[in-house]
Amino acid sequence: MCGIIGYCGYKNATKIIIEGLKRLEYRGYDSAGVALGLNGTLKIIKSKGKIKDLQKKIPDNLGTQYGIGHTRWATHGIVNDINAHPHTDCSGDLAIAHNGIIENYESLKNMLESEGHTFVTDTDSEIIAHLIEKYFDNDLEKAVKEALPLLKGTYGIVCAHAKDPRKIVGARNGSPLVVGVGNNEMFLASDVTAIIAHTKQAVYLEDGDVVLIKPESFITTDLNDRKITKEVEQITWELQQIEKNGFPCFMEKEIMEQPESIKRAMSGRIDKEQATAHLGGLNLSTKELINLERVKIIAAGTSYYAGMVGAYLLEAIPRIPAISELASEVRYRNPIIEKNTLYFAVSQSGETVDTLYAMKELQRKGATVLGICNVVGSSIARDSDGGVYIHSGPEIAVASTKAFTSQVTAFYLFALLLARMRDLSYSAGEKLISNLQSIPPKVEAILSQCSKLKEMAKKYAHYKDFLFLGRGVNYPVALEGALKLKEISYIHAEGYSSAEIKHGPIALINDETPSVFLVPDDDLREKIMFNMKEVKARKGKIIAISVEGDEEIKNIADDVFEVPRTHELYYPYIMVVPLQLFAYYCALELGRDVDQPRNLAKSVTVE
Ligand code: G6P
Repeated sequence: MCGIIGYCGYKNATKIIIEGLKRLEYRGYDSAGVALGLNGTLKIIKSKGKIKDLQKKIPDNLGTQYGIGHTRWATHGIVNDINAHPHTDCSGDLAIAHNGIIENYESLKNMLESEGHTFVTDTDSEIIAHLIEKYFDNDLEKAVKEALPLLKGTYGIVCAHAKDPRKIVGARNGSPLVVGVGNNEMFLASDVTAIIAHTKQAVYLEDGDVVLIKPESFITTDLNDRKITKEVEQITWELQQIEKNGFPCFMEKEIMEQPESIKRAMSGRIDKEQATAHLGGLNLSTKELINLERVKIIAAGTSYYAGMVGAYLLEAIPRIPAISELASEVRYRNPIIEKNTLYFAVSQSGETVDTLYAMKELQRKGATVLGICNVVGSSIARDSDGGVYIHSGPEIAVASTKAFTSQVTAFYLFALLLARMRDLSYSAGEKLISNLQSIPPKVEAILSQCSKLKEMAKKYAHYKDFLFLGRGVNYPVALEGALKLKEISYIHAEGYSSAEIKHGPIALINDETPSVFLVPDDDLREKIMFNMKEVKARKGKIIAISVEGDEEIKNIADDVFEVPRTHELYYPYIMVVPLQLFAYYCALELGRDVDQPRNLAKSVTVE
């Protein structure tokens, strides 16, 4: 949730750290701080607010060549300058930045206070600085290794010490940390976006790893000081992918990228000759796939809704019983692992703790869990038993858009693969492929009509409550549409099956509560039309996302946005894009910070 960077080299460390923090700001953005090595001391500067507020406090030309920085998303303690990281020990010589949660901080704090340490913040993280201070004897790395075994909880940390200068020590347990290997300079960061402007060489740390970086070298060991040899991996993301490239914000850029990102998710995975899909990373034999009796999907937020679409597809296409569940609930329900059941953990970031911990719980009980992730080298991608990368490219806006359509694509491909091993004929497989391949131009066509949604948003953005209503495979899309609107515009919105409104939500309908209906030309259209009339009869305003040429709907709905026709199973793509744009334009209309909405974080690494 928070972002961490450390730098050690010969360049202007302040500039590198501030730039890195700006790239990490999407991970957390309530306060930030730096600790910069300077003439035998550490200069600590912290500020509530955005990185630009911190930057204003930092003097020009500090001439520092090493330091650490942090951007925070508060968990313990209010948002203010003092609670911002880095935190220091009593001497002020040691500074640490921490991602994660220290569960036993209160007992450690009592112990350290009784030994004379003075705490100044309300955070759990400050304990780490004092604990390292307790063991420090002019060797920072050694002190870190003595302190860390006492911590219970999760951490990704970086630390620096004025009395052991020109080096940074990092350690990981449950929160990601990556080493950027440069030429006479080394970096540490919570994700690669912070460092790809400087190097494409990365070393991903595992839980239990400790790393010492100096300008010319990095050394990884475990907590018992045993050396660990790590592979240097090539970062595939390009710098221009994490820049706005002329768009006003990342969310608009990411929505507009979808024709390409959907194609990338399919790329190299469609076998036209056999009318099937190839998913190389599944690590499952043909026999295991044929014997599969059930699929269960775990995820959070938008990924959970993509999982719901996935479950629908797996039941509809290969006829495999499938269900999508909230990862946060699965973990604590003491899940029952049935035989021949395959699990998918779906996560854009690959770091969502609810999903990661649920996955580990399932694996502990013997389940096979595959990941559907975007971020290469992320915790879920590494710890799962195999999986599918969706290759969306970096998703920076907090509200997820392009990851959703690519996650859904991964499920179409998996459904095709399973179906072709079962009852689906060659020609039906060919049809499925051509339907899938027809999606990117259709999404392109919707995007080219975005000005209509902008106009609609102008008309509707002042309403305080919305209902989003869909059925069948589009029911999760209605949930996602409501989520998008709340996340970035702060308008209250509920997603429902339109069949369900008569069981409660219809009580909310009046001329102040617009309903957004998803109306594809599928078997449920007539029933949805009926529900629309029920809303109309109660003076509810109606926005319909309907197919081109559906004239009847224009007599009922107040506003209609027409989408291209497709096979009924493919409407999630076609329906979700207008909802993303509608939410985006409503947020713009209300002057919201679209990329960094209040209280949210891109990658949620706490429970
Ligand atoms: C956060 C983000 C959401 C995202 C959810 C799951 O809440 O703000 O946009 O859908 O986490 O994230 P994941 O990375 O696991 O897909």
